[in-house]
Formats: sequence, structure tokens, C-alpha cells
Amino acid sequence: MAAIQIRSVDEVLVVTLDLPGEPVNKITSGVRDEIEEVFRTLRSDNSLKAAVFISGKKDNFIAGADIEEFVALRTLESARRLVQTGQQLINQFENIGKPVVAAINGACLGGGLESALACSYRIATNNPKTSLGLPEIQIGIIPAAGGCQRLPRLIGVRAALDIILAGKSVDAKKARRLGLVDDLVHPAELETVAIKAAKKLAGGWKPKRKSAGLVGFVLEGTSPGRRLVFALARKQVLKKTRGNYPAPLAAIDAVSTGLSDGLKAGLAREADHFAILAMGDVSRHLVQIFFATTALKKDLGVEGDVVPGKVNALGVVGAGFMGAGIGTVAALKAGSDVRFQESSWDRIGTGLGHARAEFRKRLKRRRLSKHEHRDLSDLVSGTTDWSGFKRVDLVIEAVFEDLKVKQEVFKTLEEKTKADCILASNTSTIQIAEIASAVANPERVIGMHFFSPVEKMPLLEVIVTQQTSAQVTATSVAYGRRLGKTVIVVKDRPGFWVNRILSPYMNEAGKLLEEGALIEDLDQSMVEFGFPVGPITLLEEVGLDVGVKASGVMHGAFGDRMKPVAGIQKLVDAGRLGRKNGKGFFLYEKGKKKGVDESVYEIFGSRPSTGPSAEEVRERLVFSMLNEAALAHQESVVRSARDGDIGAIFGIGYPPFLGGPLRYMDTLGASRVIEVLTALEANHGERFKAALCIKEQVESDSGFYENKKD
Ligand code: NAI
Repeated sequence: MAAIQIRSVDEVLVVTLDLPGEPVNKITSGVRDEIEEVFRTLRSDNSLKAAVFISGKKDNFIAGADIEEFVALRTLESARRLVQTGQQLINQFENIGKPVVAAINGACLGGGLESALACSYRIATNNPKTSLGLPEIQIGIIPAAGGCQRLPRLIGVRAALDIILAGKSVDAKKARRLGLVDDLVHPAELETVAIKAAKKLAGGWKPKRKSAGLVGFVLEGTSPGRRLVFALARKQVLKKTRGNYPAPLAAIDAVSTGLSDGLKAGLAREADHFAILAMGDVSRHLVQIFFATTALKKDLGVEGDVVPGKVNALGVVGAGFMGAGIGTVAALKAGSDVRFQESSWDRIGTGLGHARAEFRKRLKRRRLSKHEHRDLSDLVSGTTDWSGFKRVDLVIEAVFEDLKVKQEVFKTLEEKTKADCILASNTSTIQIAEIASAVANPERVIGMHFFSPVEKMPLLEVIVTQQTSAQVTATSVAYGRRLGKTVIVVKDRPGFWVNRILSPYMNEAGKLLEEGALIEDLDQSMVEFGFPVGPITLLEEVGLDVGVKASGVMHGAFGDRMKPVAGIQKLVDAGRLGRKNGKGFFLYEKGKKKGVDESVYEIFGSRPSTGPSAEEVRERLVFSMLNEAALAHQESVVRSARDGDIGAIFGIGYPPFLGGPLRYMDTLGASRVIEVLTALEANHGERFKAALCIKEQVESDSGFYENKKD
């Protein structure tokens, strides 16, 4: 056998899985065959009383089923067959007639956990890398090798739904608390303890398991109780997904069928749901996103072999809202030595205070030990006279959004840093080349556009000018990744990628408001489309003043096509900046956002009426962004459709189930996109004039992706 080694120890068959040539164990068809072989041995050899399944990999038990096999599925029948094969194999862990123990060190996910669930006993290590979970929902499918059956039976329906519906993992300690594992041991003693447990089980020992308690019994042990739990779960799912994601509802159905009609019926329902979901668009798009982010992790954004340089020390100029966030993440995620430059000690204090508060939060939540917390606090420091800047390898500038101020800073940086230090700007609207024009060596200059709040937002746009060197690009990308960001490399055009596609969409929302649309309706429309928040709430969060500034820049660069509405400026003039000063489109009570502030319409200069129809609102908002994405893609603002879609999903929460704006246009088909844009142009003007590339796609029957389906 290639992936599995067996040996017997004291009448216990120790089965070690170590898939050759792979960093993690996956359940491939080859591995399935080998496990079948193990079961044959176990069944036929009477001297063997029990088995232990353990991994030969350092920090991985089993990462899951082989995703490539799943992606290759083309028909409902083949999908159902694949699942049934998996189910039959995993059933044997339960039905072999001899106890099987899962000895888990490292990640135990998907099919790996489903196998462990069918074992008689589970032991996990207290290694911080040990985690157990069922991530299937994240790629639009459900756990279909018994996960929806055995998990609720083991840990209760509510705890199981928590794990299945969020597609999340739990650490070993939590797994023990939930009853998902029976024992917790040090990695060094895992095998010995597992063999001992296997022998005890073979001798008739029945391990004690946590009881559900009275509330648990009422809610989960009775069918009216369960009906209540499932109804509540469905309601929560629908609230969250607005019906755009079918997998969570399918999972609830599979769990509920299994509990009311038995394991066999539950497994059959899992297989049916899996086949339909696996063939559907939503799952295909989520898998594409998964592959795209995986590929981006290996892409340095440059052609050829460029080795990224090391960044040990980071300089941050401006310890305001963004600078402080960037410095905090740099210390936390990359362990960088962070030096803030500010105009006063007061402001340094604010920046350092922000970082320390974040570190403390993690200490409190026990994500950091006291020792780690002290080391982290030592990593951040500040200066008002650039001292220490000769040591830094990269500087990220985050001062006021003003070209002159930024150019001054970059000129000073040339003097204060070593010659090979990278000079990056976090500007959101100024072109990097304009900043770079102030320095003698523009090849050192690059954009690193973070999104706020830096601690939470996953995207980083790295902006390269025609002069930025490949080495500088590769180092900045690699460093962004160390900060835990998904990084896309974009061209130095106004608005870069994310703000570029956002701009016409936000303007369109303003126009709809002018025409009498209701604020709630605009937001509701886009939340139903799948965005996390609608355009008005987004503007409220970003700040109306920031929005006005950005839209002014875009108007200057692209002309009337991007002309903003006058109403937002009027709101800013009236002191309405949004959430940051508790006054904008919404009312606030003790810092909490309440409903719409009706007085806003008058200042804005509109009269709320029945306004444009819901369908018109949706089309105008959606297609303004789609067309801009096509235009920007045509100008090669992004290096590929993949980068564009990932940027939109991670930067503004473009609905993942649609796969991103470019993928969505491929799904709709270029002819349909042209049809809608032509009608919008006829009714609302030139700003909806379709991008040339979409027209060309109609003629050549092509799309943004080479293969529109894959
Ligand atoms: P902020 O006003 O909170 O911070 C700016 C800081 O820079 C202030 O603390 C100020 O004292 C300091 N500063 C100004 N001139 C300086 C100089 N010559 N030397 C040292 N420090 C100086 O502004 P915020 O929001 O942090 O924005 C900073 C940059 O980040 C801007 O370019 C902005 O466009 C960009 N950005 C902002 C985002 C946001 O959501 N606020 C998102 C992405 C980028």
C-alpha cells in the first residue's frame, strides 16, 4: 500500500496514513481502496481485536476528501455514486465488528472528521494545530459521508448545526468540551493512549459520554423539541443568506431526516442533496473562489522568478486611523518591528494606544500568552524625528489624503531611509506615480492600499506604476500576505480596482435617491442581491466626506460618466459625515445606529416617493458596477478576471455565490449583459454605455474567463 502502513501492537492494528508527496492527508480514491484493504485484514484476522487510525503527517490527521475528484463531477449520477462510495466506506468504521479508535493530531476536517465520527472512540492532541470541523458549507455542499447524521447523534443537534452551518472548526479543547472527542492527550503519548483505549474497548469497556441534560432532552430528544430547533435554524439561515445559498438548508434537512427516519434515510438524503448542490452554480462559484485564493497565495504578481526580499522592520508614517491599524497588524501577524513617525507625541500615543488595546484584547481572550503579549508590546514604538528609520525595510505612508503632504513625506523618506527600503503609500485616491514623481528613485515606490478596519478586512491592493521594480512588487505582495491579507496586484489607474468599480455604483445610489427612492429600499435591494450592506449604509460607514473626496477624484479622471450627485456634498456641508460623527443618513442613540433620519431627504434635496421600481433600482445598481468592472478589466487594471473577482468579493463583499462581477457577467452571458445595458443607456443616458469588451464577447462567444464554466 502506498499511503497506509499497518502494524500490529498487542492485538491492535495500528493504521498509519501518510499520503506520499502531499503536505496533508486527503481521502483520494487510492486511499479509499487502501482503507478497504485494511478493513479486509481486520475482518479476516482473528488475532486482531481492534484498530487505531493515526496520521504519519506532522500536523495533519486528514484534511478532507479530495476536492479535485469533486470538481471533476459532471452528472448528478456520478455525484451520487461518489458520495455513496464514501458513505459505504465510512459505515465500515462503525460496522466492522471491532472497535476502531481515531487518534487525531492536527487538522481533522470534512471526510476526515466524518471517518473519525464513525469510529468507536476519538482521542485528540492538545497541539494548537489540532482542529476538528466540517467546512463543506463553505464550498456550497454539505457533509455527505454521514457528517449530518453522526455529529448530531454524538454532540447534540444544536451544537452540530453550529459546526455544520458555519463550516467552522473547533480546537481540541472545545471538541473535548462538546463531547466530540473522548480524550485529550499530549502528541507524544497519542499512539500509546490510543492503543490502550482500543484494547479496553475490545475488552467490553463502554466509555462514559456526556448526557444532554434536561433542556437538551426536551429540545432534542423529543420530536416537537427538534421541530422547534430546526425551525429556528432555518429562520436564522434565511436571515443570513436571504435564500442565496442552498447548502445550509439542505444540511438542516439531512440532519432532520436522519433523526426522524433513521441513519439509512438520513444518508440517502445527504447523497441526494450533495448531488444537486455539487452540480449547482453556487457550489461551482464557491469552489472557484477557493481555487483562486489558493492560487493567489502562490502568486507574487510579477513575471519570472523574483525572490521577495525580507521585511523585518516596518516604518509607518502617520499613526492615525489607518496607520495605527497597519502597524498593529504588522506586529501581530508578521512579528515585525514597527516604528511610527508622527507630527506629535500625542498622536504617537494614540497610535500606540490603539495597538496596545488590540494586543490586550487578545491577551484577555487568551489568544496570546503573557509572554507573547509582552514581546508584542515591545515591537511597536514611535518617533517624531524619524529616528530608527534607517533600519526599516519597508515604509507604509498613511498621512492625510493630500498629494503635497504625501510628496513631502516621500522626499523626506528618501533621506531618512536606506537606499533599498521600499516606499509604499496607503492612499485611496491619489495615483502612485504622482507621489513617486517627487523622488529620485521611483522604482522604490508602490501602493499598498489597505481597507478599513485593517484588522478585519481581508484584501490588500498592491498598486504598481510603470516604474515600480519587480523586486519591490514581489516583496510588497509577500509582506501583505504575511499580514494575512489576500493580495491582488493592480494598475495605477484612478480608484485602482475596488474604488473604481464602487464609484459608479455609489453615484447611481445617489441618483436613485434624487429620483425619490427610499434609503431603506436602496439598502434592502442590494442586501437581497447578496451584499453584506447596501450602498447608503456603506457610505455612512466609510464617511460621507471621504465619499465626496473620492467621487471628486473619479469625476476628474473619468468625466461626466462618474459625475457625483450634489446632495451628498450638501449633507457634508450640513455636518453630516456618517457614523463617525453620529450624523448622516441614520439616527443614532448612544452610538447605536437606529432607523433612517427622515430629515436627511430635505437636506439632500429629494422628496421620498414611490420612486423607481424595485426592479429598476436593482438593475441600475448592479449593472453600473458590472459595466465599470468590464471597463476596468479592459484597461487591464487587474491582471486577470480571477484577481478582479477576488478583489470585489474580499474588498466590498461582492456576493460570493455569484463568483464576483466578472464571473457573474459570464454566467449571465454577454448578450444578456448588453441587452440590459442598452436599455439602461436608452432610459438613463450614456453612463450605461456598454464596455467594448462585452460587445466583443458577444461576437466571439467568449467571456472574461477562458472557460466560462470552469
Ligand atoms: P487620519 O487622519 O486618521 O490619519 C492621518 C495621520 O497622519 C494623522 O494622525 C496625522 O497626524 C498624520 N500625519 C499627517 N501629516 C503627517 C506627516 N507629515 N508626518 C507624519 N504624520 C503625519 O487618516 P486615515 O483615515 O488614517 O487616512 C490615512 C491615509 O489612508 C489616507 O491617504 C487615506 O486616503 C488612506 N486610506 C484611508 C481609509 C479609510 O477608510 N480611512 C481606507 C484606505 C486608505
